[in-house]
Amino acid sequence: MYKKIKETAEWLQKRMPNAPKTAIVLGTGLGQLAERIERILSIPYSEIPNFPVSTVEGHAGELIFGRLGGVEVMAMEGRFHYYEGYSMQQVTFPVRVMYELGIKTLFVSNAAGGTNPDFKIGDLMIITDHINYMPENPLHGPNIPTGPRFPDMGEAYSKELIAKADKIAEEHGIKVQHGVYLATQGPTYETPSEYRMFAKWGADAVGMSTVPEVIVANHCGIKVFGMSIITDLGGMDNPPKVTHEEVQKAAQAVQPLMATIMEEMLKAV
Ligand code: HPA
Repeated sequence: MYKKIKETAEWLQKRMPNAPKTAIVLGTGLGQLAERIERILSIPYSEIPNFPVSTVEGHAGELIFGRLGGVEVMAMEGRFHYYEGYSMQQVTFPVRVMYELGIKTLFVSNAAGGTNPDFKIGDLMIITDHINYMPENPLHGPNIPTGPRFPDMGEAYSKELIAKADKIAEEHGIKVQHGVYLATQGPTYETPSEYRMFAKWGADAVGMSTVPEVIVANHCGIKVFGMSIITDLGGMDNPPKVTHEEVQKAAQAVQPLMATIMEEMLKAV
């Protein structure tokens, strides 16, 4: 595994047009940010040695090297989800490669269902912490020597970066919520009872991604900043039906605001 990570990093190193220190995983809700990136090089995942092979129709995405707001950045347009059938090692492989390439800060984004009664559809939530409710931990197995066997997770999401984001949001008049993101393996959305249970556990939002990448980033000493777009709400007695289309629509509407925060964050780190 470690050999493959090194191999891929060496392959990319030879082609990288710049040396970014920050990487962004463009999940649901950050498509617009991808358009704002001044691209220097884009490499389809299918051309990168050892990158997971797509299990779904269409292309899995591409790795972008470029500049955003004048700052060098590496971006993953499209991520690998556990529910697609990838192993945890495959889901987090790109983050391992990022570490080898010198990435120090990782920004992540996603769409999530709100379980906090104070949230509304279309809210932006800064992730303050997470609950790993996926069936496996990506560090399962022999320890890769980028971090300890038993890594501390006391500050999985950098408090310093959260404070910076709060300041940026305030300066731009963007309202943000704060909360705990719980990850399930998906692909089902939650039953009303599950939403209620997660809320009782301390979750403010539920989704199907992000946590594996964040665990591995922490294991590598990469600082993390994450945001969720609240695309639907669960836990009520008569919850509205959640569909993928509605999730996409709700995400679309607030994309520009999240993109602005991420772009300003990039300049601030
Ligand atoms: N649950 C899980 N994942 C999601 C949700 C949800 O309600 N909304 C968007 N992604």
